[in-house]
Amino acid sequence: MDRPPQFNALLIQEIPMFKALSKSTAHRVATILAIVALSAVSTAAVAGDPAAGKNKAASCAGCHGLDGKALLPEYPNLAGQNESYLSKQLRDYKSGERANAIMAGMSAALQDEDIEDISAYYASLPPIEGIANEEGLQRGMDIFRGGISAAGIPSCTGCHGASGQGNPAAAWPALAGQNAGYIKLQLEHFRSKERTNDPNAMMRSIAERLTDTEIQALSNYIMGLH
Ligand code: HEC
Ligand code: HEC
Repeated sequence: MDRPPQFNALLIQEIPMFKALSKSTAHRVATILAIVALSAVSTAAVAGDPAAGKNKAASCAGCHGLDGKALLPEYPNLAGQNESYLSKQLRDYKSGERANAIMAGMSAALQDEDIEDISAYYASLPPIEGIANEEGLQRGMDIFRGGISAAGIPSCTGCHGASGQGNPAAAWPALAGQNAGYIKLQLEHFRSKERTNDPNAMMRSIAERLTDTEIQALSNYIMGLH
């Protein structure tokens, strides 16, 4: 597989959290981290049954793939995503907290146990590896790892992990290998406030400061991350 050289460096290098944050933003994020760490206990408490989840996920395969690899670039891969994040999203679609016509329909009939089982199933699958384009790759990596301090944008690694693996205890999503088309749409939706289910507006407050070019660069970089 053709992999850009920067990616190897990324895996071994430890990245200091919130390196590029201004003092006040750092304080705000630290407060948010503390709040979410407290609420994470209840979010991550229930574990589902992956074998039962596999059967219950049959109707999802048409879009998210039998192996959790989405069939269209604008659809999310689910394989290897954190169980806690997946179940939060399914509850949010069901309640309307996260607005999407397709997923509102798909989640409407799911009971709590179904949500836990399906989430456990997708979380148990090996994560999908994507390949990034060379164009804009360096820019994407710089923002992902260092943020843009002049614009008050924190590094993405602070919450999504040094290699984009997410934070299951806090129900923060893994991003590594996710489809660039889907990532781009989500960042645009956070920016336009079409997606509002991020606790404490964590993602809205970041996305509203990102330009189209920066969103493009981040989406491409994230797809190649693993
Ligand atoms: C007709 C296509 C389709 C089907 C069938 C479908 N989905 Fe989705 N799913 C989508 C799309 C499109 C999105 C992104 C929607 C958005 O922008 O919020 C999505 C998003 C999701 C997400 C959020 C992922 C993330 O990274 O935030 C989860 C979880 C999910 N789907 C689970 C399921 C499950 C479980 C089923 C079966 C019960 C299912 N989907 C069936 C199209 C589909
Ligand atoms: C303060 C913590 C925090 C920081 C910093 C952060 N994120 Fe997030 N991000 C979140 C949380 C929490 C969610 C999930 C919100 C929810 O529950 O739906 C999220 C969701 C996302 C999603 C949607 C994933 C999906 O599967 O639908 C994308 C894309 C994303 N973030 C990209 C980024 C990028 C790019 C950066 C850096 C510019 C960044 N995030 C920085 C906390 C953060």
